[in-house]
Amino acid sequence: MLRVLVLVSGGGTNLQAVLDSIAEGRIRDAEVTGVISNNPNAYALERAKAAGVPGKCISPKSFDTREEFNEKFLEAVDEYRPDLIVLAGFLVVIPPAMISRYRNRIINIHPSLIPSFCGTGYYGLKVHEAALERGVKVVGATVHFVDEGTDTGPIILQKAVEVQPGDTPKALQKRVMEQAEWRILPEAIDLIAQGRVRVTDGRAVVAEED
Ligand code: GRF
Repeated sequence: MLRVLVLVSGGGTNLQAVLDSIAEGRIRDAEVTGVISNNPNAYALERAKAAGVPGKCISPKSFDTREEFNEKFLEAVDEYRPDLIVLAGFLVVIPPAMISRYRNRIINIHPSLIPSFCGTGYYGLKVHEAALERGVKVVGATVHFVDEGTDTGPIILQKAVEVQPGDTPKALQKRVMEQAEWRILPEAIDLIAQGRVRVTDGRAVVAEED
């Protein structure tokens, strides 16, 4: 059974997609054993509570230095003994020591087709505003392993979504969430739980189902 720890900062719709997918059997052999938020008001914590999943809040604002936060945060993560850590809209920089300790065991959902519209400053609605500004015809989402960079780790899954005429950033964000994020994040967790994802030469490879 894959022990999954989910890190959140906001509404938690991706967390909800994971919880629902486990409940409905689309994610096999995995359980969400904890949720940690940096934001005490994150509705994601309400979703965890409703699902009976232990949730806690650890905010950098509660510590005098980032180093102090990083140390306490990593201790809190370790307490869950996670096999996989899922960043589901988590907006805090992951401590380098945590990247090393959980090499290729931390995944992130990003609301674009990486390497487009990603990296520093590209998060939430800003991603979709930039896509519409550029006039791209296809957007989408990416699940990738987290490394020391920002949105730079090995790509596991991607799913494309067409831009519709008259799309606003909010409308596009909603479609990317519904048609891409909420599908490929659970799919990636199931693939990992089935042992079908390997990283070779810095690239993630998904093995065929037996
Ligand atoms: C999602 O758009 C996700 O792609 C991005 O942050 C947002 C989180 O939304 N990383 P939610 O908290 O899962 O609703």
